[in-house]
Amino acid sequence: MNLEINEEPISNLSVLETISIAFSVDRVLEPTLMKNRLIGIVLEERDLETPYTKDYDALDGEGTTRWETRFDLTNWGLIVARFAGSPLGGAVIAFDTKNVNMLEGRRDLAVLWDLRVGPEERGKGVGAALFKAAERWAVSHGCTELKVETQNNNVSACRFYQRQGCSLGAINRFAYPDLPHEIQLIWRKSLSK
Ligand SMILES: CC(C)(COP(=O)(O)OP(=O)(O)OC[C@H]1O[C@@H](n2cnc3c(N)ncnc32)[C@H](O)[C@@H]1OP(=O)(O)O)[C@@H](O)C(=O)NCCC(=O)NCCS
Repeated sequence: MNLEINEEPISNLSVLETISIAFSVDRVLEPTLMKNRLIGIVLEERDLETPYTKDYDALDGEGTTRWETRFDLTNWGLIVARFAGSPLGGAVIAFDTKNVNMLEGRRDLAVLWDLRVGPEERGKGVGAALFKAAERWAVSHGCTELKVETQNNNVSACRFYQRQGCSLGAINRFAYPDLPHEIQLIWRKSLSK
């Protein structure tokens, strides 16, 4: 595939709206608490009897063009994967931005805020190429670590981040009061120059 992966102006964010981020949830990573121990949560893959579709863009307060109303996008980067000019995937990465709690107030930490590949193009290496480009962007902006948030009902993304060399840094069973069945998973990757 003659794929072009380039940084584009952050003002082009709406290009992501042409690429669906939706995915089918047909399995989850089910947490089991280790009984009689002070620590330990085991995540085990479980198939769902009734799969459903999850679409982050449809969540209240989400959606690519809403971010500019919530954050100063000065330190945000947009990377787009195009084939023959048509967008088929994208990544958004940010560092040193007020009100982005994921950044922990650090200036050397980057967050992969959005990563998506169009449903027809998944599984062909586009996501990995975007992830690598996002890593390079973060390093070129002085970051030493990359952080990503996902949930236990996005098993594909979890497997993908594992393959990219991320480590599962945190499991928060109570992160989403409005979505009590979803568990927040925070992935981290140390960046070398
Ligand atoms: C997650 C996503 C970006 C991955 O992109 P992709 O182009 O499908 O992934 P790639 O083809 O580049 O896969 C890279 C590696 O991850 C692995 N991987 C990707 N999807 C996987 C899955 N469902 N199960 C297991 N491994 C998977 C691949 O096997 C591949 O491994 P390899 O290096 O051994 O070949 C894509 O599936 C997507 O857009 N999903 C919907 C949106 C989303 O969930 N975004 C992330 C939000 S946190």
